[in-house]
Amino acid sequence: MVLEILEWCLTPASLQARTSGLLAEQIAIRHRATRCKRAWEPHLRACKAFLGRELQSGSHIAILGSGHLRDLDLPYLKAHFAKITLVDVVHPLEVRIMALFSRGRLQLLSGDLSGALHCFNPNSAISVADDLRISLKEVDVFVSACLLTQLALPASSRWQKRFAKSEVLLGVKRICQSHLDFLKNAPRALLITDVERRYGTADWSALLPGVDLPRPMERWIWDIAPPAEHGLRNIGPE
Ligand SMILES: C[S@@+](CC[C@H](N)C(=O)[O-])C[C@H]1O[C@@H](n2cnc3c(N)ncnc32)[C@H](O)[C@@H]1O
Repeated sequence: MVLEILEWCLTPASLQARTSGLLAEQIAIRHRATRCKRAWEPHLRACKAFLGRELQSGSHIAILGSGHLRDLDLPYLKAHFAKITLVDVVHPLEVRIMALFSRGRLQLLSGDLSGALHCFNPNSAISVADDLRISLKEVDVFVSACLLTQLALPASSRWQKRFAKSEVLLGVKRICQSHLDFLKNAPRALLITDVERRYGTADWSALLPGVDLPRPMERWIWDIAPPAEHGLRNIGPE
């Protein structure tokens, strides 16, 4: 806990990332990943293998929701792409240090990919900031890396306090759909996302109800919370 607080203080992050809880969540994920190392291993291996099969070489790749880079094989990306842009609302310290010593191969972009961190009403317009879009104009391959179901979490937990469930669900759907539309309009894009969850042996339930997802090329199960884990945040209103 003390380490987590220290990291929260030391990591450069916007006020938005701090107050939305995204910085704290990202730090918590690092510790959860260590605790769940064995359970997460097949998922991380599956992500890397999928990208290894599907990514061809190119000049510029962008990783959306890059976080701690656990689900990516960075040496592989470096071998196949001249430039790598990592996009996240906050970049962990170890990634910042990596970028510093990458001789310009790793570029970090910090920003809100949901377009909704500032948005206090689920019915208002949602769009990713222009400067972030412009910085990504030259990218030829995008990877959305386990980001989609996380995108609406801060906005939806805020909206739930003041708006009807139907309005919140619609806002969540619009955030997710706009991310998918962004990927659809990219020269090439790969999406890795969780789509369903279940607790124990209960039935599966959709994490992205009503969102128009592409047909999956591959599927696997991510044992994200083995029995000892508690306190995972949920997508959308309960
Ligand atoms: C589940 S993690 C993805 C895992 C990451 N690829 C890794 O290997 O560590 C989700 C990531 O998305 C980022 N994220 C969540 N909401 C975001 C937003 N609105 N804009 C940009 N990044 C966001 C988080 O900071 C986190 O790093």
